[in-house]
Amino acid sequence: MQSDTSPFGLRGFLIDAPQFGTLRGRPNGAVLIDNGKISKIGDYDDLRRLHPNSIRWLDRRPAAIFPGLIDCHTHLPQYSVVARGESELLPWLRQHIFPVEREFTGPKARAEAPAFFQELVRNGTTTVMAYAAIYEDSCDAGFEAAKQSGIRAILGKMMMDLGSYGQLQPKKVLSISLLESERLCRKWHRSEEGRLEYAFSPRFAVTCSEKMMRSAAELAARFEAYLQTHLAENREELEKVHHLYMSARDYTHVYEKCGMLTPHTVVGHCIHLNPREIAAIAAAQSSVAHCPSSNLFLGSGLMKLDQLLKAGINVGLGSDVAGGPELNMWQVMRAAIEVQKARSAYEPNLRPLRPGEAFYLATLGGARALGKSNIIGSLDSGKEADLIVVDLAALLPYPNEDALAELTPEDIVALCIYRGGPQANLETYVRGKCIYQAPSPAGAL
Ligand code: GUN
Ligand code: FE
Repeated sequence: MQSDTSPFGLRGFLIDAPQFGTLRGRPNGAVLIDNGKISKIGDYDDLRRLHPNSIRWLDRRPAAIFPGLIDCHTHLPQYSVVARGESELLPWLRQHIFPVEREFTGPKARAEAPAFFQELVRNGTTTVMAYAAIYEDSCDAGFEAAKQSGIRAILGKMMMDLGSYGQLQPKKVLSISLLESERLCRKWHRSEEGRLEYAFSPRFAVTCSEKMMRSAAELAARFEAYLQTHLAENREELEKVHHLYMSARDYTHVYEKCGMLTPHTVVGHCIHLNPREIAAIAAAQSSVAHCPSSNLFLGSGLMKLDQLLKAGINVGLGSDVAGGPELNMWQVMRAAIEVQKARSAYEPNLRPLRPGEAFYLATLGGARALGKSNIIGSLDSGKEADLIVVDLAALLPYPNEDALAELTPEDIVALCIYRGGPQANLETYVRGKCIYQAPSPAGAL
């Protein structure tokens, strides 16, 4: 595995999405990586001429080189119960999620967290934003595992003081949760030269008091950390919030009143929003994590992606495990496309989401949603070298030379979305360091 910091070159079919709707491709391309950054991008022949043997060259053909995938919303303690339960959000949380989160502490958390991040990097995810359980040690274990794995991670301890799965009285829960969250933030925020960051994480308005949400927002502002929560995922959730917060104009207004909508806020789901709410999120410059595979699994609804994008909201994608059944972001892109296809069957003027656009959401779109598009999300010189190398032969039904030679960037992205996953992921790099390498096939030298 590439692990030192000396410069090296990677050769392959370079593909990225510099904006929504645009794919950029370089069939015989090369990326030069120096000191964790992309120092040059270009055609292999040109770069090779400039740097004949002064650096190490890794020829990865027939492979595509993409910016690393970005998962803007998932849950560390829930991975062990993926694909469990056929109920909607609130009964699913009670029956399947709170019981497993309640256990996610001590040796169990320390054992599962490394496997979770290993699984993310095996799937080609280079940046993840995730919730731990309510326990301080569950979040600590998450950060420790993320640190070891080499992934870029934004994590936070789950905060909830209404109907929590913990044993403490709500009043105690509030003060302890604030104290522990602050302590975790002080310990981990911007550690590993900024590779690890903290997100204050009030679960959602159903399980958080106003005081908790307001305090979480204050802490996030004080430490210039992220805030993450869930919003408008499910109809029953909306009704619950309406009854809890009768004076609020709508669900989003509950968060606005608590100061939770900020440019450092990432709200998950956002399916059942009215136009005022969409405008309020846009005006606050908060970002949205769209979780289509989860929304299908839990029958939550079909997000009006076009309306959020039209309002100028930065939208990234989230696996939302265990609402979503897998960490594979190609499958999340596929679900995003299929949700918009399902909508367009009933709304004739709606343009479906194209594979290249879904790919944008999982790369540069996600980077924008996390306020990181200056450092990651595309293959541009000067950016940090978060990349994945995907074996094209593993995606094609008949991987002969002619079929490989004919592939366009659009074909390749579509193949990844419909057939991609860990079986085709050869390598994952963060800051130019190879943090995952597929095992060589049996019998290979
Ligand atoms: N809303 C509040 N908590 C959760 C959660 O853990 N998963 C999902 N999908 N939605 C939520
Ligand atoms: Fe979630």
